[in-house]
Amino acid sequence: MRKPYVAGNWKMYTDPASAADLAGKLKLSLSNATWCDMAVFPPFTSLAAVIEILKGTRIAVGGQNLHWEKEGAFTGEVSAVMLKRLGCNMVLIGHSERRTYFGEKDATVLLKIKAALEAGLKPVVCIGETLEQRESGITESVVERQIRAGLSEIPDISEVTLAYEPVWAIGTGRNATPQQAQDVHKFIRNLVSQCWTQDIASNIRILYGGSVKPDNARLLSEMEDIDGFLVGGASLNADSFTAIAEAVK
Ligand code: 13P
Repeated sequence: MRKPYVAGNWKMYTDPASAADLAGKLKLSLSNATWCDMAVFPPFTSLAAVIEILKGTRIAVGGQNLHWEKEGAFTGEVSAVMLKRLGCNMVLIGHSERRTYFGEKDATVLLKIKAALEAGLKPVVCIGETLEQRESGITESVVERQIRAGLSEIPDISEVTLAYEPVWAIGTGRNATPQQAQDVHKFIRNLVSQCWTQDIASNIRILYGGSVKPDNARLLSEMEDIDGFLVGGASLNADSFTAIAEAVK
């Protein structure tokens, strides 16, 4: 049985003070949420403040990106080892905003996953198709390419969580219907069993992301292959993130 997982991607929002405030509220409101695993991904500059507040709680903290080298002359970058030493235990990799605006490719996604696992960080790897790709009927082949090129060289992905985030549903208020999301999640789980093992496929968590709100979370979470959520906008408000965590109970 897969334990539900609810994660908040804070994107480029919050400063250390507002992040600490939000983390403090989540610490209180989610202190009894033992039915799910939880994580938040604040921007780099808010990580230290959030880690301090969430220390000893069940809410994990992660970075939104990393560089695959341990250190070096890479101005503006942060490594997996640096995140780990700061107190992170998770990291987001391959978010569609990184792919669209910053040229992230499957090949760099692969390097980042390897670096994260080596440093002891659990990666949440994002995949998903654009509206144009969905409308051309190539959703499955896009997701398959992202998984094969981005992950299939990793011999064991049992520490990886996948997040299916259709690009057309991100920040648009237009979520995938439960059935649309379920169809892709099921396809992904089957692909994982082909590329790795049936056991890994049965245990890996596949989150849905894209306009998840308290009022659509329950129906989505009732689908067999949807194991939780990667929440953007609604994770910036403690009440709505808490309500989404309640919905996966
Ligand atoms: P929204 O929930 O704001 O649509 O964002 C989803 C997302 O990109 C999470 O990583």
